[in-house]
Amino acid sequence: MAKKVTGKTKVKSKSKAAAKKVAKLKAKKPAAKKAANGLPKPSTKPYGQAGKALEGVRILDFSHVQAGPTCTQLLAYMGADVIKVERPGVGDITRGQLRDVKGADSLYFTMLNGNKRSITIDSKHPKGKEILERLIKHCDVLVENFAPGTLDRMGLTWEYIHKTNPRMIVASVKGFGPGPYEDCKVYENIAQCAGGAASTTGFRDGPPLVTGAQIGDSGTGLHLAFGIVSALYQRIRTGRGQRVLCAMQDGVLNLARVKLRDQQRLAHGPLTEYGQHGEGIPFGPAVPRAGNDSGGGQPGWILKCKGWENDPDAYIYFITQAPVWGAICDLIGKPDWKTDPDYAAPPARLPRLRHIFNTIEQWTMTKTKFEVMDICNAVDIPVGPILSMKEIAEEPSLRKTGTVVEVDHPKRGKYLTVGNPVKMSDSITDVRRAPLLGEHTEEILAKELGYSAAEIAEIKTSGAITAPEKGARAEAA
Ligand code: COA
Repeated sequence: MAKKVTGKTKVKSKSKAAAKKVAKLKAKKPAAKKAANGLPKPSTKPYGQAGKALEGVRILDFSHVQAGPTCTQLLAYMGADVIKVERPGVGDITRGQLRDVKGADSLYFTMLNGNKRSITIDSKHPKGKEILERLIKHCDVLVENFAPGTLDRMGLTWEYIHKTNPRMIVASVKGFGPGPYEDCKVYENIAQCAGGAASTTGFRDGPPLVTGAQIGDSGTGLHLAFGIVSALYQRIRTGRGQRVLCAMQDGVLNLARVKLRDQQRLAHGPLTEYGQHGEGIPFGPAVPRAGNDSGGGQPGWILKCKGWENDPDAYIYFITQAPVWGAICDLIGKPDWKTDPDYAAPPARLPRLRHIFNTIEQWTMTKTKFEVMDICNAVDIPVGPILSMKEIAEEPSLRKTGTVVEVDHPKRGKYLTVGNPVKMSDSITDVRRAPLLGEHTEEILAKELGYSAAEIAEIKTSGAITAPEKGARAEAA
């Protein structure tokens, strides 16, 4: 018995000593993590197992449609906890747009909202406002791309947010920056037109053209993500949040900057690398549409390949880069062009580009685009096959790198999405399906915001997180 007592005492004193040791170690921990220069010591964990780049960053995601969701999906891919706030019963309008599977969220929605959590809150309901206040205190960044003035009408002004959480970064996409059009609603193609892309896309003798790549929406979302990450970095120094604004017009113009370059070059003479120059057609006062001319200093064009008569994508982009001109001449059976003064040097070729590309096309039409790719790349001639979306969806190498990912969804089954196009060796993206509407409402209320079960029950009956009419789900276009 006595032994037992002694034993117990021993155990007790042992555990006391252990606790002391742990406390001592804990106290020492921060110092041990720092190197001599005051920076954190490199992690000893294997690459990919030391957390993700944006782990610990909480995003209050008020975004909808495409521009904002592109931004927050990328942040989520990088490890941020993205809490998407949606209107009860309705949600992001894209859930119901371009539906391909009855009763299931559309691909438009699911491909832009992976790795996020969804909470439904009526932002105009008093209880909803209270929940939002807690979320504002809880999160690091608020992202929104409402129409101008919408956030203010919800009562979520910059002044209110900054007072509630001075560390919060408020990031917005709008169609236009301050100026005559700042109050306008804007969609993708409007931005492409207003940002200078459409006037410089298409063929000279045709109307302006929009491009399929969503440079207005997704392009601006990308710019906004860059702004957010920069603001988070600055906050480490300043301790305060800031407003981040990216106007879609500005985002498109940033991507079309080579055309503003050409606009200024026009003042000093014709744009000699444009096919129109070789054809003897004078330039007007503004940068013209350049068809498939290369935007750089190396002339290029899209050429037909074997099978073009039946396959709309049997084409290749061919660049007549100066250093490989000799190799091109040999391939197409024109070795004399290597020394012919009309063809040997790049300036001599400029007025003859149409004829040159027609001649190269006679050769490419005898091969498939993949054969041209193999033959040309073997001798360093840069070419690009025109890949259809079908070919891209089926391309094994894109699956292998996680650029194209198949995910499973409880309502629609398997679908393809685009994974993280940015690959990082220590922040590896695992792509998860988009959330169902309000799927994480209770989880977020309880675990993140600390509401008790009784409070959640009260919130549920208040109408702040549920649709006013049962089943009133918007079935949009
Ligand atoms: N609870 C209650 N109301 C909500 C809500 C919520 N959780 N979420 C949205 N709403 C309300 C808004 O308060 C707004 O109501 P109000 O106008 O009465 O104040 C309403 O829903 C519509 O929001 P809004 O953003 O104005 O959508 P819209 O359909 O009128 O316009 C766009 C859509 C895309 C044209 C517009 O949002 C816009 O121009 N955005 C900026 C540019 C942009 O991002 N464009 C590209 C989109 S990919």
